[in-house]
Amino acid sequence: MILLDGKKTAADLKQEIALSVQKLKKQGKKIPHLAAVLVGENGASMTYVNAKVKACELVGFKSTLIKLPEDTTEEKLLQEIETLNNNKNVDGFIVQLPLPKHINEQKIVMAVNPDKDVDGFHPVNVGKMTLDLPCFLPATPFGILELLERYNVETSGKNVVIIGRSHIVGRPMSILMSQKRTAGNATVTVAHSRTKNLKEITLQADIIVAALGKPEFLTGAMVKNGVTIIDVGITRVEDTTKKRGYRLAGDVHFESVAPKSAFITPVPGGVGPMTIAMLMKNTLLACERKEN
Ligand code: GUN
Repeated sequence: MILLDGKKTAADLKQEIALSVQKLKKQGKKIPHLAAVLVGENGASMTYVNAKVKACELVGFKSTLIKLPEDTTEEKLLQEIETLNNNKNVDGFIVQLPLPKHINEQKIVMAVNPDKDVDGFHPVNVGKMTLDLPCFLPATPFGILELLERYNVETSGKNVVIIGRSHIVGRPMSILMSQKRTAGNATVTVAHSRTKNLKEITLQADIIVAALGKPEFLTGAMVKNGVTIIDVGITRVEDTTKKRGYRLAGDVHFESVAPKSAFITPVPGGVGPMTIAMLMKNTLLACERKEN
């Protein structure tokens, strides 16, 4: 069993990005600038956004964090987005999801200028991705592709089963892995909450991407020997033995699945750090594209 070490791979990537920033600096070019908008005080969202800002500092990007109260109106948030769309200093920005219930998420995503949409969530970027055109790939799927590539995991002709059809992970992952690319050319099955006989399907899988958000859902009895496991889940599960009162659990029951796996991502330290590194990569691309 080989651990797909997202923490180390992300650190390597950020080092590469930091070198690119130094080069831009030497050439007297613009330094990439990422802005993040956080609405409300969702604990997990605050953790993620802080990690994104920290990553910017590490690679040498400028960053701006815009914190808005929970009761921010949709109109006010749309105004903030318009300001960021028009701000020439900002190369890319994200609006951290989920948003409070009174705000229409789709409307917000559609308001972001696709050229600054480093999350790759805007329909223009999703459409371009589907058509194999240059675009911003959503950071989590992009990170998974990068991890598979850097560990030379063979995907061509393999049976890939993706559990979950979210717009952020499952759906784009299914499109990308079926395309002609290094971590692609796979035969992809998308399983979801209405799938029947899931175990029969996962037992056929060479690679499983678990992205359904149910802690320790995928167990050893559901996978074959030699499988590759990508665990996208990261749920806070109450744990009174921990000082902070919770532990982080993936969608995979690691103890029973790992012994049967050829490759497996840990949680934490697998997909999570890769997501942040790929957001940095997209921001660098946004800056370079704007300059050229
Ligand atoms: N919420 C969970 N994942 C993401 C992400 O990749 N980007 C944003 N903006 N929000 C998220």
